[in-house]
Amino acid sequence: MDLQNINFNTRKWVRPEDLNANGTLFGGSLLRWIDEEATIYAILQMGNGRVVTKFMSEINFVSSAQQGDLIEMGLRATKFGRTSLTMRAEVRNMVTRRSILTIDRIVFVNLGPDGNPAPHGYTEITYDRDRLPAEHLPVAVAADA
Ligand SMILES: CC(C)(COP(=O)(O)OP(=O)(O)OC[C@H]1O[C@@H](n2cnc3c(N)ncnc32)[C@H](O)[C@@H]1OP(=O)(O)O)[C@@H](O)C(=O)NCCC(=O)NCCS
Repeated sequence: MDLQNINFNTRKWVRPEDLNANGTLFGGSLLRWIDEEATIYAILQMGNGRVVTKFMSEINFVSSAQQGDLIEMGLRATKFGRTSLTMRAEVRNMVTRRSILTIDRIVFVNLGPDGNPAPHGYTEITYDRDRLPAEHLPVAVAADA
């Protein structure tokens, strides 16, 4: 995976409640964090608070993490469809940069008010907050928008 193009935004400190019965990081915790992070990323890219996870490709648990480890999650949009956005994900140890998990394709779908897929109208990645949905803006800014 081309790590240079991935933005690592969120960091996590692996705590006792995140562990499996073997004492290493529980895959379910990791997937919950990734899904939440990917949802926020999809909202920022498609400019809509109503987005859903549609598809996840093969998940590769590359190496384990231990209690106390500092890890970071990275995402990058790889394809803008008509109603969908495809991204890739990587989780790695923040200190050693050793890869912990990779997912080649996570697909999110943009929904309209009726709950059906709706065109999002975007073709390029934004690195800014310029598509932030109005419901997330301060009241004065939203009124001017
Ligand atoms: C999301 C949902 C509305 C899409 O319905 P659908 O009938 O598949 O819709 P469409 O066939 O119009 O496809 C919508 C987009 O998803 C893409 N898509 C559909 N199935 C896909 C799959 N298996 N893999 C990758 N992309 C897929 C389509 O290519 C299309 O993208 P495009 O418009 O950019 O070309 C519906 O599947 C759904 O509600 N799923 C449950 C979502 C959910 O609850 N997620 C978990 C909680 S967030």
